[in-house]
Amino acid sequence: MKKIAAVIATSNKHKLEEINEILSGCNFEIKSMKDVGLEGLVIVEDGGSFEANATIKAKTVMNLTNSIAIADDSGLEVLALGNEPGVDTAIYAGENATDAENNGKLLRELKDVPYEKKQAKFVCVIAVAFPSGKTLTVRGECHGIIALEPKGNSGFGYDPLFVIEEYGLTLAELGKDIKNKISHRAMALKKLKKALYDDVRG
Ligand code: IMP
Repeated sequence: MKKIAAVIATSNKHKLEEINEILSGCNFEIKSMKDVGLEGLVIVEDGGSFEANATIKAKTVMNLTNSIAIADDSGLEVLALGNEPGVDTAIYAGENATDAENNGKLLRELKDVPYEKKQAKFVCVIAVAFPSGKTLTVRGECHGIIALEPKGNSGFGYDPLFVIEEYGLTLAELGKDIKNKISHRAMALKKLKKALYDDVRG
């Protein structure tokens, strides 16, 4: 069966690794931004929602490559913070903030909130832009609770603070095999596989 070529429109190597791993075994010929000569491309994410930002990224890369482009926009919504940081998750502690700085700010913001009120969810919206001009988006969510301190070394971003209650461990402690089965990105990619195959079949 002929493989479907698709560019993953992200410069985040952790996202690329997770997307590659979750889509492995599928009928895609996955290309990175480096593979198509777009490494370092900066795309302004001013859409105001995960859906809009993911679509901006996918359409930009589709227009530059004339191939199917797949983009992820994701973030953390914390109930006690009125669903912040949301679309600003990557820059919560400021432009170019490190993961440690973002995690530090989250802990400070939640220091007076009781543990049982620290529910949060990761959201991942994946957008696909087709050369025909068509776009689609799918959304995955992963529910958890924000820990009192960072734990674990696997993953990236807020993984060391995100406790999956069923396991009593953070995503960074659970490791990639479990994370890639239960994460917001895994949920969105599962929906994406179905949507893409339905699309190809017509
Ligand atoms: P963006 O999608 O490039 O706007 O960035 C989303 C930000 O959300 C990332 O920089 C991370 O800080 C955070 N994030 C998204 N997905 C994950 C995840 O799977 N684990 C931990 N943090 C994540």
